Amino acid sequence: QLPERESQRFTTHLQSRKRTPDDVPPRPEIFDFQGVSMIHFFTDNWENIQNFQARPDDILVATYPKAGTTWVSYILDLLYFGQTERQTSVPIFKRVPFLEITIPDFGSGKDDADNLPTSPRIIKTHLPVQFVPKSFWEQNCRIIYVARNAKDNAVSYFHFDRMNMMQPEPGDWSGYVHRFMEGKLVFGSWYDHVNGWWKKKQTYPKLHYVFYEDLVEDTGREIEKLCCFLGLSRSDEEKKRIADGAHFDNMKKNDMVNYSNVVVMDFKISPFMRKGKVGDWKNHFTEAQSLQFDEDYKKKMTDVTLQFRCDI
Ligand code: A3P
Repeated sequence: QLPERESQRFTTHLQSRKRTPDDVPPRPEIFDFQGVSMIHFFTDNWENIQNFQARPDDILVATYPKAGTTWVSYILDLLYFGQTERQTSVPIFKRVPFLEITIPDFGSGKDDADNLPTSPRIIKTHLPVQFVPKSFWEQNCRIIYVARNAKDNAVSYFHFDRMNMMQPEPGDWSGYVHRFMEGKLVFGSWYDHVNGWWKKKQTYPKLHYVFYEDLVEDTGREIEKLCCFLGLSRSDEEKKRIADGAHFDNMKKNDMVNYSNVVVMDFKISPFMRKGKVGDWKNHFTEAQSLQFDEDYKKKMTDVTLQFRCDI
């Protein structure tokens, strides 16, 4: 828990929409939580989250942060609920609650999920597979895991940590790459995350593993696969409308999905909808960093059945 004064400042900051150096909340510190690097916003309500009651028709969208969570959440929301009024009045993070987030005195994703008026509920999580509340497995829920190649994922996370005051201070890029390799970022090691969920897929058939690079390459094809997995039948016209609506340029303009209404994110530093490209890592990694990263990657990614594309 934050000390009372800090939590009041934080709430005021969220509600006032003013940003002065004085009312920016202190950035959280990373700590080890059962072997995974975490911050208190995701562990404060741990017992309640672990006791979350999933329903059989819930759909869980699981990702390592910055792998395309919002993109897939929005596609799913459109697939189930279409272009209804909620698309223009309810921000995506309310339509698709973030299960493990708890902001002191402000609210929690778990409560938002419990109170969702619509069904099926689409729920987002960044938890590594071993932390997922057991009711999701007991209820045999459908789960969509989105994964993105490590280098682009690291770059996207770096810019996110720069602009999001609820994330730990990222420092400079060269230190950040090393912390990414060591798994010392919020939600832990990218390598453990993608491997853990990949392994789970081998024993849990209701898990659909999606690659960000595939979505960029052919969004329509991936929407078709999602429909198959979810048992949905939508007309070609409808699927095309969804792919168009969820195109990067359209999402960037859409205030209900671009996070522009979240005051702890400073878009002057970097927008949430930043580039939406495969291969932006080339603009960030030096040759030496890339070589060192690749060496380390080979040691950690030994399952040859899990292959990522860094370029398309
Ligand atoms: P970049 O920072 O590389 O631009 P998440 O939703 O998991 O936080 O992921 C955010 C990343 O997904 C950002 O990556 C964002 O631009 C990208 N993204 C979101 N919507 C997208 C879309 N429609 N097409 C391509 N990329 C998208």
